[in-house]
Amino acid sequence: MIGIRIIVISIFLLITSLFIVQAMYSVTVGQDFIQQSVGQSSLLLAEDMAKFIESGVYIKINDLTDYSKTDIVQKALLESNREFGKFEDIQGYIDLQESTWTSTPDEIITPFMQSLISNDLAEDIRKNFVEKINPKTSQSVFAELFLTNEYGANVAQSGKTTDYRQDDEDWWQKAKANGISISKTEYDESTKTDVISIGIKITDEDGNFVGVLKAALSVRSIIREAEISTQYEDTTQVNIVTEDGHLVYSTKAFRFNENISDQSFFTKLQSGPQQGFFVNDKKFKKELVVYTRPSNLEVLGEQDWIVVIKHDIGEVGILSGMLALRENIIITSAIIVVIALGIGIIFSRDISNPIIKLTYLAKEIGKENFDAEITIKGRGEITELIKNMKDMGTKLKKAKIQKEEFISMITHELKTPLTPIIGFCQALGNPEILGTLTPKQKDAVEIISKNANRLQSIIGDLLDSHRLDFHKIKFNFNEVNVVELINSVINNYEKEIESKKIQVTVDAKSPILLTTDKQRVEQVLTNILVNSIDFVATDTGKIFVKAKLQKDNVLFTIQDNGTGIPPEEIDRVFDSFSQIDTALTRKHGGAGLGLAICKALVTKLGGKIWVESQLGKGATFYFTIAQQPEQMDKSK
Ligand SMILES: Nc1ncnc2c1ncn2[C@@H]1O[C@H](COP(=O)(O)OP(=O)(O)OP(=O)(O)O)[C@@H](O)[C@H]1O
Ligand SMILES: [Mg+2]
Repeated sequence: MIGIRIIVISIFLLITSLFIVQAMYSVTVGQDFIQQSVGQSSLLLAEDMAKFIESGVYIKINDLTDYSKTDIVQKALLESNREFGKFEDIQGYIDLQESTWTSTPDEIITPFMQSLISNDLAEDIRKNFVEKINPKTSQSVFAELFLTNEYGANVAQSGKTTDYRQDDEDWWQKAKANGISISKTEYDESTKTDVISIGIKITDEDGNFVGVLKAALSVRSIIREAEISTQYEDTTQVNIVTEDGHLVYSTKAFRFNENISDQSFFTKLQSGPQQGFFVNDKKFKKELVVYTRPSNLEVLGEQDWIVVIKHDIGEVGILSGMLALRENIIITSAIIVVIALGIGIIFSRDISNPIIKLTYLAKEIGKENFDAEITIKGRGEITELIKNMKDMGTKLKKAKIQKEEFISMITHELKTPLTPIIGFCQALGNPEILGTLTPKQKDAVEIISKNANRLQSIIGDLLDSHRLDFHKIKFNFNEVNVVELINSVINNYEKEIESKKIQVTVDAKSPILLTTDKQRVEQVLTNILVNSIDFVATDTGKIFVKAKLQKDNVLFTIQDNGTGIPPEEIDRVFDSFSQIDTALTRKHGGAGLGLAICKALVTKLGGKIWVESQLGKGATFYFTIAQQPEQMDKSK
């Protein structure tokens, strides 16, 4: 019955889960859609940012180029070049200055250095660039700025530079050759900041090369400016990372140049296209990562920074709404499942309880317990069925009582007239009571007597089987000597055995003692023996009776060489009123009750009965009887 319950509950759960799956699916699709649109719009933001950075750098380059054309620059370089031109060994001079420059300790500024830091041009570059604060960011944009003459020697500088000679530097040569050189993001030791170094070739009015200007552009300031110009939400985290995985800027607290190359979002974007977005699953949160690389590289040359915008999905307004919705759906789903389960259980109880009761009732009625009590509640087909079943039980009980009464009545009624018949037959057999009979009369009286006895035994069997049915048989236990019992049963049928010339053998060694109901064991043995006597052939018939004491019972074996029992009938011989339909059986007569009674008695006496037979070769009946009454229950 649990089956029905589980089915009902499962159907409930299935339907609710379908709803839940549908809801979750909608939310997920919605969430994906929103993620896409948030991703797209953030990508625009990242592009904006990248463009602001690029244009920031670009504007600064323009500023620097413009500055390189000013009188003060042109004049100073012209003068320096002219002066250097006078030297016999220009390179020798530069080398000499360079070696004293680089061997001077960091904290010391020599008068020569000082002259380059405090000349008019140096004052001017400090005023116009290094010390000039961008009002937007309240930071200065240039960390350092200096100019060299056409020979690569410093002419003016905003602060102390690490060396004097620059023409041996790549950027210097590159600027001289290409007009401009722009570095990747790099950490500048002298200004202790991250910078993009820009080298600009300076030419005079006629386009002749006169020197190089170098400016260290503060990356932070440029990005900050871009950041201010870009509208983004507080929850948005803007990062600038280099292609090789170093963090150079973040709107959240960060360590400059921190190596983030092993972080999952970086490995994803590193292998990604120019720009894009994806959801990065972290342990406790999900983040939407949007990134773009600079695009306008013709102007800026080789740039290696990537703008990475991260949104904590839980904090992006609409996305978090979606997440909350999902959470709500999960919570409500859980509640719905619990409710569905509850309803399912109640429903299933309503459905299965009556069926459980019905099954119980049917079983009890099957066991002939017609008084089985069950309560019926409510209406419905099953309740109706239970009611009908109960009514049926009541009717069956009534019918059984009627049957019982009928059998007691009929057996009594049949027995009563038999008593005088048998009595008078006996009287007729005695010449002293009713006179001598002629041989023919004597034969007739004998036939009457024999049949009356037979009738009496059939009535006795009927009564027995009826009593066994109603558990009304009472047993009287006393000590039984099995060998004596067997011999006495055989003796009772001496006449029949002799007339058919049956060879009876007994194999039972004294003493085999049992505590059991002697009369009932005798009845069983008699029934089987009488069958054997009837089913063996005259002259050749053999019956072998054996009793053997086993562990806690006695095994009886009655073997004959009679007709045997067909295999298909073997299971039926112990049923009431069952007889194998043969000419011999018809001659044998009887009601087909003997073995049924035997089985019931043996069982009640704590034993078992069974038969082995081969058609045409005979039958062997076995039965056991418990040795002591207390073993009866054990062996059942
Ligand atoms: N020794 C046997 N050999 C062959 N068939 C047998 C033997 N014992 C029983 N049977 C078959 O089993 C049937 C049932 O036997 P059972 O003793 O129950 O009934 P019965 O002898 O026919 O009638 P009852 O014993 O009530 O007078 C018999 O009618 C017979 O067909
Ligand atoms: Mg019989």
